[in-house]
Amino acid sequence: MAKSKATAFFCKECGYESSKWMGQCPACKAWNSFVEAPAAGKGALPGKGGAVARESAEPCTLDQVPAERETRISTGFGELDNVLGGGLVPASLLLVGGDPGIGKSTLLLQVCRNLAADGRSVLYISGEESLRQIRLRANRIGTITGNLRFLCETNLDTVAHVLEKYRPEVVVIDSIQTMYREDASGAPGSVGQVRESTNVLLQLAKGLGITIFIVGHVTKEGTVAGPRMLEHMVDTVLYFEGERSASYRILRGVKNRFGSTNEIGVFEMAEEGLREVKNPSEFLLSGRPEGASGSVVACAMEGTRPILLEIQALVCRTNFGMPRRTAAGTDYNRVNLLMAVLEKRLGLRLSECDAYVNIAGGMRISEPSLDLGIVTALVSSYQDRPVDDSLLVFGEVGLSGEVRAVSMAEQRVAEAVKLGFETCVLPQSNRAAMKKDYPVRLIGVRNVQEAMAVLEGNAGRKGGAADGKV
Ligand code: TYD
Ligand code: MG
Repeated sequence: MAKSKATAFFCKECGYESSKWMGQCPACKAWNSFVEAPAAGKGALPGKGGAVARESAEPCTLDQVPAERETRISTGFGELDNVLGGGLVPASLLLVGGDPGIGKSTLLLQVCRNLAADGRSVLYISGEESLRQIRLRANRIGTITGNLRFLCETNLDTVAHVLEKYRPEVVVIDSIQTMYREDASGAPGSVGQVRESTNVLLQLAKGLGITIFIVGHVTKEGTVAGPRMLEHMVDTVLYFEGERSASYRILRGVKNRFGSTNEIGVFEMAEEGLREVKNPSEFLLSGRPEGASGSVVACAMEGTRPILLEIQALVCRTNFGMPRRTAAGTDYNRVNLLMAVLEKRLGLRLSECDAYVNIAGGMRISEPSLDLGIVTALVSSYQDRPVDDSLLVFGEVGLSGEVRAVSMAEQRVAEAVKLGFETCVLPQSNRAAMKKDYPVRLIGVRNVQEAMAVLEGNAGRKGGAADGKV
């Protein structure tokens, strides 16, 4: 029915395909996102004859599948292995996204170096940098030993032939936006090209059993440039993020066919490349002001990992009719909601105030357990009364001002103990369910009124005013 080279239109955001141009994408509702591109061809690899498809055409029962599939390759970075769910899975396709200059190339070069030092054959293909530039970077990260080779190439058909010839175990493609295929039309980086290229790489990874890392640039909207469909095609999606001005970087698993998502790895950009940060809480709390109002430590979970962070709030009288509110690092609407709760339940006149909430260190977290921390920081700044430095809060706040239980309270408390906190204000239902004793004062609260009473009793002092059991 359709001609093989018919033009079609794609949504840049989600990859939705249509025969005519549309102002709004019916799938993702993005405006003005349609671009013209050739309809997808067969996408098969030249000369491969669809061997992969034929191989998997025989149905089987699960016990016919060899059980020892679960081999994992360590990347030499514990933080990265963690995010991947225990290491690299052979023959998988991974996408590493992130802003330009955040350190994607550095991270992958270091991973390649580690893998090569472990005796694996690794190939790093760059379409962005010359061999000289790579060499300069490599000099910074230390000596490279073992079988690590480099190739500067943007033609994907050439890349495919090289991979078939050398069959390395791990390959890095830096970046997918620079790759092109001759028989797909459009400039490199266009929707059609990126889709075609990823398709070819997917077949190479599965067909030849190669683990392939794809580097993808992120657009302003925060998706990997143009096609979000890239995320559907790969096995694992990792995002490398952080403030370019701050030295630490967070590697976040967004999709993982071989493990849980939402695990994070923390790295620090140093002179000699990236360094792992084994204890992010300590790192994030360094430089915390002492005795300043509006600053409080809260505990968020990233996957199974508790992370302590500082929430800062600045509340001051507004000079305009419309108060200004901003939230950096957390959900703006959530902050507004919490301010309305405070106004209604504690009678604070926040509607006359500007309010700025910030998660210090450039972390981005929107987890309900931060609610109590945000509330505490807001009240502390409103009343200009500092919160005790050795105190930690967590808990979800509901619309009637109730403090609700959160998951994994014990891990959060354990992290607080590890970092030497003395008091923990937490939801009463979590407090009641605690089985173990911790060397920290646990104060359970039922609602924001109780929480604020505890904080008033505790402000600026280290002794025990409030009853440890409430
Ligand atoms: P890069 O890996 O090129 O980023 P991406 O591939 O995501 O675009 O990272 C470049 C930045 O990292 C650059 O601003 C310099 C910095 N950097 C260091 O601080 N130390 C180092 O050892 C290296 C190699 C880079
Ligand atoms: Mg790069």
